[in-house]
Amino acid sequence: MGRQEEPIQVGPEDRVFVLTGAGVSAESGLKTFRDQGGLWEGHRVEDVATPEGWAADAGQVWRFYSERRKGAGQAQPNPAHRALAELEEKMGERFFLVTQNVDDLHERAGSKRVVHMHGELFMSRCENSALGAGMSGLGCERPPFRDAALYETAAAIARCACGGRIRPHIVWFGEIPLEMARIQREIDRVTVMLVVGTSGAVYPAANFVRWAGPRVRKYYIGPEEPMNAPAFARLVLGNAGEVLPGLIETGTRE
Ligand code: OAD
Repeated sequence: MGRQEEPIQVGPEDRVFVLTGAGVSAESGLKTFRDQGGLWEGHRVEDVATPEGWAADAGQVWRFYSERRKGAGQAQPNPAHRALAELEEKMGERFFLVTQNVDDLHERAGSKRVVHMHGELFMSRCENSALGAGMSGLGCERPPFRDAALYETAAAIARCACGGRIRPHIVWFGEIPLEMARIQREIDRVTVMLVVGTSGAVYPAANFVRWAGPRVRKYYIGPEEPMNAPAFARLVLGNAGEVLPGLIETGTRE
């Protein structure tokens, strides 16, 4: 542990629920959204992260996510990602990790069961797929698929067999986050909640800490107070890559 923080004790009866945000990947060199110099300073959310932005200029949307693909492809997991993978290794199915991040750094650090509630950068899907329902209602059945391609212009965007355009498998503003039923089930049985590197500005994720019952021990880890700070029992203020390794004591030998 970089700073002398009192450890968080996790016993054999505990179930740990972790929510991560852009801050967990900050020390890997990926920009957060709302910090100074963050992604939303250089881009309008409406243009690149809404169904309306996609309808207006799909090329611009894909340029944005192509840049993100390039950046995430070059980034490496940092000690925070690794600490969470090690905790999962120790706790097995008593550990649950949901991330708002679309990068794959948790997986590359060794995390096995990662729920990406805001989608995945290296996946795409047809704009007419069920997940995109409401946009066209055409009901293409092709599931999301792995895709690392870069699309720089509207003309370059690949087409599905149904004729729809291929879009990023990302949850945009105005769309419903993925796997919410599973996340809710996990919140209902959690005893320890760790929230790492997220500003608490985007819902429903910002409410997970409130959905968890009053007996749940709730910790926030990041360099500054999140917007939902009062909901936590303790704030561990510091960069996740510095404070997370060694912060959680499971009482089991390495
Ligand atoms: P934000 O950019 O809103 O917040 C990033 C948080 O990370 C801030 O609270 C920082 O203090 C914290 N942070 C910065 N460096 C850190 C470090 N080294 N260690 C730990 N924390 C650090 O990002 P999110 O809260 O993840 O959604 O944003 C939530 C959602 O809003 C994103 O998933 C994205 C965005 O719009 C979509 O694109 C759908």
